[in-house]
Parts: sequence; structure tokens; C-alpha cells
Amino acid sequence: MDASHCAYVGDGFGCVADIALKRNTQREMNMKTVFIAGATGYLGQHLVKEYVRRGWFVRALVRDKVRAGLLDLPAQMLVEAEATKPETLAGQLDGADLVISSLGITRQKDGLSYQDVDYQANLNLLEEALKAGVPRFAYIHVLNADRMKKVPLVTAKQAFVERLQQAPMASTVIAPSGYFSDMRDFYKMACSGRVWLFGDGSYRINPVHGADLAVATADAIDEECQWLDVGGPEVFTQTELAILAFQIAQKPLKISYLPDSLRRMALVTLPFLTPRSMHGPAQFFLTALGMDVLGEQRGTHQLSDYFASIRP
Ligand SMILES: NC(=O)c1ccc[n+]([C@@H]2O[C@H](COP(=O)([O-])OP(=O)(O)OC[C@H]3O[C@@H](n4cnc5c(N)ncnc54)[C@H](OP(=O)(O)O)[C@@H]3O)[C@@H](O)[C@H]2O)c1
Repeated sequence: MDASHCAYVGDGFGCVADIALKRNTQREMNMKTVFIAGATGYLGQHLVKEYVRRGWFVRALVRDKVRAGLLDLPAQMLVEAEATKPETLAGQLDGADLVISSLGITRQKDGLSYQDVDYQANLNLLEEALKAGVPRFAYIHVLNADRMKKVPLVTAKQAFVERLQQAPMASTVIAPSGYFSDMRDFYKMACSGRVWLFGDGSYRINPVHGADLAVATADAIDEECQWLDVGGPEVFTQTELAILAFQIAQKPLKISYLPDSLRRMALVTLPFLTPRSMHGPAQFFLTALGMDVLGEQRGTHQLSDYFASIRP
């Protein structure tokens, strides 16, 4: 492994780093190793914590170890590389027993496309994992991908899933519903005094907390499961989500229902009127708002507690 690209956490650098390197190499030899891509993200941070809790040696892929250091990731090793540049990944997956990737564009504004990141960067990781002989690759996809084929984010992720499933290695695909982190938008609308919904607000979702999703992901991998559609323990209609957000925000209930035709019109016009960094995520969320988003109910975290935790 090229030590210039990696940093063992906790012992600083120089001579101390050499000692830390030896100590951690010995530790890694006695433990199973997981390489987590997307480790600095909402879900990735929970995956790192879950695998450390399960006694694995965690190599976390980060773009910038100084920025990653601020997150206080408990990973034993930070691997600094750009998954979009395959040469920076060379050798970094050697000896790993498992790769998990939650790497993808959500709100990043790097000027890269979903094809560059959600597809190509994950393919670069897959190719490196194949070279290194890693036995299993787990990937975080999206729920209902088959019903969102026209959404560029989903097209890129689905194309990667197809490459993964054709690859000569075992794989696990996790297809989650919306994350608690994305329900924040409902809460923000409630805090601002009014929630806007499309249609009659009756579509249902079971949003999932990152910690619950990390457990469900690790369990599915342990069980050698090939595909898991997964969500959280509570099912809400969109109207119920809005009511909960108003309750926790302690604001009077004000919900406006817009005709669903406006949602469909926005899907068509937004790509012409807004930059990709805006219409990309909007196309995904507006499409998901027009269907039930329900996965297998897992976990224990309640959305009311999450809303309370982000109360201003
Ligand atoms: N949010 C949801 O409700 C939801 C629902 C279903 C599925 N998913 C999928 O779950 C995955 C994880 O979601 P999340 O909410 O945890 O996302 P997130 O917080 O935005 O994390 C995304 C991760 O990908 C990395 N990344 C993004 N662009 C990159 C680039 N150009 N080069 C290298 N790394 C890059 C980020 O690194 P930096 O920290 O350096 O930017 C971060 O580690 C995503 O693929 C998403 O599509 C999300």
C-alpha cells in the first residue's frame, strides 16, 4: 500500500506515524477489513461507526483527510483518493474483505455529472476491487429505481448496478427509501410556516435513519443477501409527515395541496430553467414524491426524535 495516500488515524505523523503504521498493520492483519467509499457522507459515517462497532478494521475513502478529520470518523485508516481518478485508487483495496460504496452525488456541486460519479467512480472502485480479489462489493442504490428510469441520478446508479451484477464477484445491493437527513426539508417548510404538497398527500414513505440503515446493510451483507429494499420502522403519508413536522416545530398546521400536474410540469421544465446542481436532485425528489416509497421496515429510530434533534 502506498503510504503517501493513506493516514492511520490517531497518532499524528513522522516517526510516530511509522510506529502507528506498524501497529495498525498488525491490527489489520488480525481483523476483517472493510473499505468504505462515501464514508464522509450521511450514511457513510453511520456505516463506518457500525463496522467499527462490529470489530472490523475500517479503511474509509475520503477526498480530503483534513476535512474528514473534522468529522471525527472512528475509522482506523483514512485513504485519501479521488474515486473519479482511477490511478489514485491503485492498490488501496488490496487485502480488503469487503467494499461498501455509498458514494454518489446528492447535493455536491463539483461540476461533475451523475455519470462521472454515481456510475464511473463506482465502476473505478469495482474494477480496483476485482484486481485486488475482494470477495464482496455492496452498493447503496435507491428504492423504486425501476420506476424512475428517466431520472439521470437513477439512470447512472442503475447502470452501475447492472455492471456490478455482471461482475465475477459476490454483491449486495441495498435499495433504501428516503433518509432522515432528507426529511429535513419537510421540517424546514413547517418551521417556515407552511408545507406544500402535491396531489392529495396520500403517497406513503417509511424514511430511515442512517444508523438503522447501516445495521440493515451490515446484516444483509452477513446474510449474503443479493438485494434488499429497505426503509425505517414508521410509515407516513406525506400529509402525516407534514403534521409531524408542524407538531415538533410547534407551529400551527398549514398545508397547501398543489395539483399534481404542477409537479409533472416542473419535472419537464426544470432542466431547461435551472443548473444541473439544482435540477438533478429536484428531478429525483419530485419523481419520488409521485409514488409510494416503501421498503422492508427495519430499525428503531423515530422521525419525531430526529426532527426534535434539528429544532433550531
Ligand atoms: N439521501 C437519500 O434520501 C437517499 C435515498 C436513497 C439512496 N440514497 C443514496 O445513498 C447514497 C448516500 O447518500 P448520502 O445521503 O449519505 O449522501 P452524502 O451525504 O451526500 O454522501 C455522499 C458521499 O459521496 C461522496 N462524493 C460525492 N461526490 C463525490 C465526488 N465527485 N468524488 C468523490 N466522492 C464524492 C461524498 O464525499 P464528500 O463528503 O467529499 O463530498 C460523500 O462521502 C447516495 O448514493 C444516494 O444516492 C440516498
